[in-house]
Amino acid sequence: MAKITMTVNGRQVSGTCDDRTLLVHFIRENLGLTGTHVGCETSQCGACVIHMDGLSVKSCSILAVQAAGSSITTIEGLAKDGELHPVQAAFKAHHGLQCGFCTPGMVMTAVDMIARHGSNLDEATVRAELEGNICRCTGYHNIVKAILAAAAEMGGVRQAAE
Ligand code: FES
Repeated sequence: MAKITMTVNGRQVSGTCDDRTLLVHFIRENLGLTGTHVGCETSQCGACVIHMDGLSVKSCSILAVQAAGSSITTIEGLAKDGELHPVQAAFKAHHGLQCGFCTPGMVMTAVDMIARHGSNLDEATVRAELEGNICRCTGYHNIVKAILAAAAEMGGVRQAAE
């Protein structure tokens, strides 16, 4: 067993877990933050994407002990003061979800994508960078529209063609 401490959504947290506990299970079960989903547990689906030290990562591919000392943001950490993050608001406005299972991972990937590409983000880049996030409802079109709309609002980049 290991005792680990990390910062999650701006708050320092500690917990005890098995050395082989995956970060996604630590987040969901030790911290009770169930917005991060578990799909494949094999780095395929992207349902478990979070931000670790500012970059999107698949939390099923990292041991909790490897994240000790890091700064983690989960989907629960995006909305501030009761206001949705612009990416969350764009997913809602553009119907960028169907069953919603992939949505937290999609949103976390999108926030990272917009932060890295800024005004250079275009539709081809969005589609390429969503390669690691699988939507089982096959609803990618509105997801792409939502990400480009959020990027436009946040960074003044062009929106996808209707
Ligand atoms: Fe992590 Fe599928 S649960 S990529």
